[in-house]
Amino acid sequence: MAQISFARGVPAPECLPVELLAECAKSAIERDGKTVLSYGTGLGYAPLREWIGARHGVDPGRILLTNGSLQGFVYLAQHFFALKPGGRAFVEAPTYDRPLLVMRDFFGAEPVGLDLDDDGLDPDALEHALADGGQRAGFLWTIPNFQNPSGRTLSLERRKRIVELAQANDLLVLEDDPYGLVRYDGDALPSLFELDGGDHVIYSSSFSKTVAPGLRVGYFVLPQALVKPLEAIANSTTISPSLLPEATLVEFVRGGHFEPNLERVCGLLKARRDAMLDALDEHFGGTGATWSHPEGGYFLWLDFPEGTDAGALLAQATEAGVTFVKGADFYADGRGRSSARLAFSFVDLDQIDDGVARLASLVGAAV
Ligand SMILES: Cc1ncc(COP(=O)(O)O)c(C=O)c1O
Repeated sequence: MAQISFARGVPAPECLPVELLAECAKSAIERDGKTVLSYGTGLGYAPLREWIGARHGVDPGRILLTNGSLQGFVYLAQHFFALKPGGRAFVEAPTYDRPLLVMRDFFGAEPVGLDLDDDGLDPDALEHALADGGQRAGFLWTIPNFQNPSGRTLSLERRKRIVELAQANDLLVLEDDPYGLVRYDGDALPSLFELDGGDHVIYSSSFSKTVAPGLRVGYFVLPQALVKPLEAIANSTTISPSLLPEATLVEFVRGGHFEPNLERVCGLLKARRDAMLDALDEHFGGTGATWSHPEGGYFLWLDFPEGTDAGALLAQATEAGVTFVKGADFYADGRGRSSARLAFSFVDLDQIDDGVARLASLVGAAV
């Protein structure tokens, strides 16, 4: 029986612009091989930093390129938590699991979970946590668009309140936005970075979802005060990030491929999102399960009928040839027992209905 993966949060292979990237990598070496095949600076390849700076309306001196945006998160965690035991950061609950592990397991820092609902992170929860009087948090980490794992998007009103709270409390916000451009419907909202002006907000994104994750090119738009410390960490960690993929991207964007490729990728993924929502309506409708309706990104969040043990269900589902990630993996405090993250990004379009049907047929038994 074919395995159907709703677990893998990666793009389907046909999303990857393989031939174009092969041409761009070749041109990058031909055009600037002596630079990109040598060591560079900790901040990364200057022409790509210029392109990103222009897109965000900031001086390229504030752009830090990293080998994937997760590496930027590790640098930030290192800056705030290394050799300083007992650090804290505000995080969404649920949230993307890898940075949670980075904070806890590499740096012994405490992620303080703040609830979110259909409109994203709850600013009241942030306000309470700020008023708590406990040790200051190093930063607030939020994923405002099509959040991993919930697929939810932070509303405009909440964006404004979170920025106001950050400004009033001198709280640094890490706006982690790899999915923002991967939008299938609805209108884009202003980023926290734009609403703030960039003093209290680090904007982070990546070319993993818009072009290809294997390039491992992510970036931070930093407040000026953080440029030197993070550049020093980057420099002592990797000397410079990998320049060849960065230069390949420069060829890609200069060749006018970025927007058409993004449109093509959004078309492929929208069809998967739609198929998953249709399949959930058909197979989970009336069971008491509820799920999010993402306007973009890779994931949706499924709350199984009350009492379902998602861990037990996952074991049975794996036997039946379908996988997902159980909700508890995305909480720092063991919540999410009856929930799942379903990724629609990787699975073949024509397997989605079958996979959801297999899951639905198992739910009643997993309590
Ligand atoms: C919310 C979020 N942030 C960051 C990343 C890391 O992306 P990358 O390191 O590929 O840029 C991911 C990857 O899935 C993600 O979902």
